[in-house]
Order: sequence, then structure tokens, then C-alpha cells
Amino acid sequence: MNYKKRILVTGGAGFIGSHVIRLMVHKYPEYLIVNLDKLTYAGNLENLKDVEHLSNYRFVKGDITDASFMKQVFEDHDITDVIHLAAESHVDRSIEGPMDFVMTNVVGTVNLLQCARDKWEGSKDHVFHHVSTDEVYGSLGETGLFEETTPYDPRSPYSASKASSDHFVNAFYHTYGLPVKLSNCSNNYGSHQFPEKLIPLMINNILNEKPLPVYGNGANIRDWLWVVDHASAIDVIFHKGRIGESYNVGGLNEWTNLNLVHYLCDLMDQKLGREKGASRKLITFVTDRKGHDMRYAIDASKIESELGWTPSITFEEGLDKTVDWYLNNRAWVESITSGEYTEYYKNMYDER
Ligand code: NAD
Ligand code: DAU
Repeated sequence: MNYKKRILVTGGAGFIGSHVIRLMVHKYPEYLIVNLDKLTYAGNLENLKDVEHLSNYRFVKGDITDASFMKQVFEDHDITDVIHLAAESHVDRSIEGPMDFVMTNVVGTVNLLQCARDKWEGSKDHVFHHVSTDEVYGSLGETGLFEETTPYDPRSPYSASKASSDHFVNAFYHTYGLPVKLSNCSNNYGSHQFPEKLIPLMINNILNEKPLPVYGNGANIRDWLWVVDHASAIDVIFHKGRIGESYNVGGLNEWTNLNLVHYLCDLMDQKLGREKGASRKLITFVTDRKGHDMRYAIDASKIESELGWTPSITFEEGLDKTVDWYLNNRAWVESITSGEYTEYYKNMYDER
């Protein structure tokens, strides 16, 4: 088939990548979507069971740090565009061991940029969309919002690796004219998120009546966005965003961790028919994350005014859908949290 675009989506078997792929394969049957993923502990083809039969979808297992292999992938599939999500994504893991983050997030990204540059040979009729994070901007005090012009100030090994990758993306634009776009998004939540991240971890532990580890005093603030809305923002930026520009994506939705955990406890007590207040008793304050960023909050006015994007649902609606998904997909959680994951987390809280 003569596809209009042949898009390489990296990290498509992960949390956000699987939502991006689901959106793209359905909305754009005229595009070929090539999902390239190493299938680390965070990547799971179960996440894409519902689309794997579609004729415009392909899966390739591989590592973005492998230069000759990636060059071949660009050739084999005649790649016209890239949406780059593959990364090591968990801050706590980056604190324990930064090297995997340097390799995948920095070296892997530069490798992809080189492949795109070689393949597209100076032609501007392509897009390299780099999916990044608001954590590159550092940590806010009580007031203010991250804007696209906020100076970079990464503080964790994870955010330092993502900031570095953003700088390389911009460097390839300024130096070689590679047609790049960047997006920097706040905290995502929704179905298929690996249960090491706050919301799915709490849902899973509430369900199993296990302790709910809140770092420090629970006063840190995050700005939460439903993952499907992040995928729609990526779609809009990929198609309509300006080349060489960054777009912040967020939900205007700030919550302290403790308030969020309280909300989840009460919601799940209701859904599970438990006594009111039962799950809040599971909350356990544990040693704080090292260098824990205090507050993230996004000014998303650029993507709204330039591209007309806003989130489609409220946090309460999104959490309701998310909790229901985890309650209805317990087998998914069990299968991905066995083995390596259990080993990794066995002594996690004692160590801090
Ligand atoms: P995730 O950890 O769920 O998925 C990452 C995917 O990348 C996995 O499928 C994994 O197998 C794959 N991968 C890892 N190393 C690879 C390698 N060397 N080669 C090929 N594939 C590899 O992550 P996520 O939460 O879906 O995040 C996706 C992207 O979005 C990341 O770049 C992250 O920095 C960014 N981001 C995430 C959030 C969030 O809240 N989760 C917010 C803003 C931006
Ligand atoms: O802001 C975007 C970023 O959001 C993404 O770039 C990252 O990939 C993603 O992991 C996320 O980073 P955070 O560190 O903010 O997310 P996490 O879910 O790990 O933690 C959210 C907050 O909850 C943070 O303040 C730490 C706290 N926390 C987390 C866990 C896992 C707890 O209090 N207890 C926990 O068990």
C-alpha cells in the first residue's frame, strides 16, 4: 500500500506510547505506524492487543541505542516521520542508577536524530517529534508556572537526561536544519501505566490492602493530565505545531500527593463497598525521595491559543475511568508485576 506517511513511533509498547499508537492507527488509516520498542520491564505488547491485527500497524523489537540496527529500520520501512517516546521514565530508578537513563534517553535520542538526518538528507518535508517532560524546568515554589521560555534546571538524573535529549533535538534543528518539534508534558495518568508510578501504585495497593507509601509529608504538588489527552496533544503538535518550536502540555490541575491519595482512598472505598475511611488507614509516610522536586505546574496557553488544544475531561472523570480500568484488568497488573519488578521493589522503602 502507498502510505501517505510512514511514522516510526519509539516506545510504543509503554504507557503513553501505546495510547499514541492506538490513536494514530485508528485515526489515520492512510499512515503506516511502525512501533519500535525494546520491551524493557516497562514495555508490554499486551498494551496493544486491540490494534495488532490492523494492517497499518507493525511492531519491531529493538534498541534505539543500536546505531546500525536503527539505520536499517529507517531503510526497511522508508520512515518519513518520527514520534519519539522511548525512554527510561521513572525518577526513583534514575536515582538508584543513572546510566541506563544516559544510554537510552541521551545516546538513544542522538542516535535517532542521526538516523533521521541521514535518511531525510536535508528535506524539510518530515517531522521529528520529541516527547519530553516538564521536569526539565526544575522545581517551582508556591507560585508561578512553567512556560516554554522557562530556563532549563533539571534536578534528578531522569530530568537531566531528558533535558540533555531536548538540547540535542534543538541542536539538530539549529545546526543541520532537521525538522523537529518538542513537547514538554506534566504528569500523566490513565490505563496501562506501570504500577511503579504514584496513581497506579496507590490503586493497586488500596485494592490489595497494602501500605500506601507517601514520600516525605505528601505536600509535593504535581499537575495531572489524562494520558488520552496527552496523546491528542501529540497528534495536534505533530500535525499543526511549528517546526523548531516547543509546546508545554498540562492539565491546569494541581494536587498535593496527599490530597490525591486521600481522594483515591475515598473513591475506591466507595467502589469496593468498604467502610468510609478504611483505605486512608493504609497511608504510610516514608523517607522522602532524594532531591524531591516540590511543585510542577504547566502554563499550556501556547498550545491552546496556537493549536486549539485543551484537555477533554476533568480529573475526577479521568480518575473514575482509570480506577475502573485497573479494577477490571487485575490480570494485567499481576502479569507485569511479577518477576523482575517484585525483585526490584522488595527492599525499596527500607533502603531510603
Ligand atoms: P514508559 O516507561 O511507560 O515506556 C517507555 C517505553 O520505552 C517502554 O515501552 C520501553 O520498553 C521503551 N524503551 C525503553 N528503553 C528503550 C530502548 N533503549 N529502545 C527502545 N525502546 C525502549 O514511559 P511513559 O511514561 O510512557 O513515557 C513515554 C515518554 O513520555 C518518555 O519519553 C517520557 O520521558 C515522556 N513523558 C512521560 C510522562 C509521564 O507522566 N509518564 C510525562 C511527560 C513526558
Ligand atoms: O512531570 C512529568 C513526569 O511525571 C514524567 O516525566 C515522568 O516520566 C513520570 O514518572 C512523572 O514523574 P514523577 O516523579 O512526578 O511521578 P511519580 O509517579 O514517580 O511520583 C509522583 C509524585 O508522587 C512525586 O512527588 C513522588 C510521589 N510518590 C511517588 C511514588 C511512586 C510518592 O509519594 N509515593 C510513591 O510511592
